[in-house]
Amino acid sequence: MPLVSMTQLMSDALAGGYGLGYFEAWDAYSLEAVCDAAEREKSPVILGFGGMMANPEWLDRGGVETLGALGRSRAACLTQPTALLFNEAQTREQVDRAMDSGFTAVMLDTSTWPSAQAIPVVAEIVRAAHPRGIAVEAELGCLPNATEGGIDVEGSALTQPEDAAAFVQATGVDCLAVSIGNVHLLTAHAAPVDLDRLGRIHEATPVPLVIHGGTSFPTKLVAEAVKRGTGKFNVGTTLKRAFWTAVRDEVRRLEEPLDVHRLMGSHFAEDLLEAGKQAMTLRVQELMRAYGSSGRGRVSE
Ligand code: 13P
Repeated sequence: MPLVSMTQLMSDALAGGYGLGYFEAWDAYSLEAVCDAAEREKSPVILGFGGMMANPEWLDRGGVETLGALGRSRAACLTQPTALLFNEAQTREQVDRAMDSGFTAVMLDTSTWPSAQAIPVVAEIVRAAHPRGIAVEAELGCLPNATEGGIDVEGSALTQPEDAAAFVQATGVDCLAVSIGNVHLLTAHAAPVDLDRLGRIHEATPVPLVIHGGTSFPTKLVAEAVKRGTGKFNVGTTLKRAFWTAVRDEVRRLEEPLDVHRLMGSHFAEDLLEAGKQAMTLRVQELMRAYGSSGRGRVSE
């Protein structure tokens, strides 16, 4: 099925009372895990890759283009409605290259920039992207990161509803990521999110809202968050944890002599990365059910 607009997917989700997951992949196996979950759950999905955790030198030496080609070719095999996001690009150049590489949605990470600096740059991206049918996400406010010792709030900032309205108006973005107590990279416990603030931002802004830090967003609050305008949850850490744990367990079971050709890259059952993929598929399926997107894709065939 051809890729569809992320904006359309999000507005369909909000109209239908469910949320979408953006499940961040990092290679072919993790991307296939998300695709397999979407097929099993008959769920619309946002595929993609992120610029925050990847080595920028690799991204800048053909990495963005490689990811775009990978995403497009996998998405073409899917029967479910799909968009392809380049998330949290770290430079404007990465955004341009993502747009040239077939991504249907882009986001520049301006979360630590002052608004006055971010607005003209994001507005310029919107002007470049919209004529090409590419959606643009931006974040206003800045999420804290989880660290070993707890949550590092230094440099983080909550989203103010009136600032969000002005930012959306001035930039023309298609969706807005918000900081309402959600936390990046947190696995120890649920994030202390403030749904009242989310509701006030929703009332002030006409576009779908996005929650980053999906790993620690409390599952029991998903439905309320969707009612308050959240069209997309961005998920990363829990997927890598599921993948890693399964690969680690497989490695621990290994004994010489080994057939390295079967173990690495074979896509047979003994392939270590296949174990990671299967575990990640199950985690994505769980989240699709939690967001309510299961069964909201193409159910016939
Ligand atoms: P988590 O890793 O906390 O799930 O956050 C992912 C994310 O926000 C990607 O944009």
